Amino acid sequence: MKGVILHGGAGTRLRPITHNGPKQLIPIANKPMSQYALEYLVDSGIRDVAIILGDLYPQKVKDYYGDGSKFGCRIEYIEQGKPLGIAHAVSLTKDFVNGDRFIVVLGDNLVSDSIERFAKNFNGSDFDAFLLLSHTSHPHDFGIARTSDEGKIVELIEKPKEPPSDLAVTGIYFFSPQIYDHISKLKPSKRGEYEITEAIQSLITTGGNVGYEVIEGWWKDTGTVDDILAANRLVLENIDHNFDDKNIQGKVSIGKDAKISDDSLIRGPAVIGDNVLIEGNAYIGPFTSVGDNCVIRKASIENSIIVKNSVVDTDSIIVDSIIGENTKVMNSTNLKPVGKRMIIGENSIIYI
Ligand code: DAU
Repeated sequence: MKGVILHGGAGTRLRPITHNGPKQLIPIANKPMSQYALEYLVDSGIRDVAIILGDLYPQKVKDYYGDGSKFGCRIEYIEQGKPLGIAHAVSLTKDFVNGDRFIVVLGDNLVSDSIERFAKNFNGSDFDAFLLLSHTSHPHDFGIARTSDEGKIVELIEKPKEPPSDLAVTGIYFFSPQIYDHISKLKPSKRGEYEITEAIQSLITTGGNVGYEVIEGWWKDTGTVDDILAANRLVLENIDHNFDDKNIQGKVSIGKDAKISDDSLIRGPAVIGDNVLIEGNAYIGPFTSVGDNCVIRKASIENSIIVKNSVVDTDSIIVDSIIGENTKVMNSTNLKPVGKRMIIGENSIIYI
């Protein structure tokens, strides 16, 4: 079997974090979210992976993943450019897949369960496609499935006005090469995209055997800042290192050469990257990820992601925030004239 990761899209809802790179490179617990997708595939025994690139700094994706050898696989890159739809992205993989069965993972979806068992079952089955479903309280926001008692999918509707169930299609799809014939017949949907949901529906309508399983653990589509913070919390909860020190407490992962001053406190779940300096009575509270080479001085931070190479040097309390790469958050107390000073880009959001 082969693997495909979708790394394109416009990233509009996550600006300004996506001004300098694709959203799938935003770190969750200090790892780009698409690396989780790659690990699901590699852990399922897949060694050949295609990454579909969009037009938002695709070189950054290539620089990070390289030829795949650091991640235990071979990676091929396929340029999609403009985001014409998930089905369009999948159509570009036909030569790469070369008649094999394959798994598509949306690069912004995270799940707690391993997909190894589903991959093995699908490979030895006569299913033409297989979907992982998850119960959702927001059925209007996803592809929704109607299922039969025999374990088959009977109908799929993309973002339905009147959802027939609460079973959302997660971003992990198992396909036989038959799907390409159905994609080739698609027309753009109302939102102007080639919808994979419609291609699978066409497979079902023409007698295709489309199975499913409802996953038991959590599933997170990281469409918004709140979703990203939620995914960060879910991943951090699974850190298995437990500290019981005076200034490091609970589930905390600490990177190489990180320095934490005795007067600072880290209370997990939290992850601290390599070469981080935490000092000056700083407090890193639960559900916080601090990326490599950051300096945190004086600040108290909770439920937040501080991306690598940033400095937070202020006695403020920072909550529910994402602070992008290479950013400085400083004290305003010594400024003349007295006031808050901001040098921020387009589409930024600050609460002062
Ligand atoms: O997250 C699961 C949902 O993903 C499913 O329930 C829906 O049926 C499915 O259509 C999809 O819905 P979204 O509206 O959330 O898809 P989105 O546009 O956010 O794209 C999902 C991922 O695929 C994202 O990582 C960007 C990437 N992508 C998207 C498009 C449209 C591409 O690489 N190329 C594209 O052309």
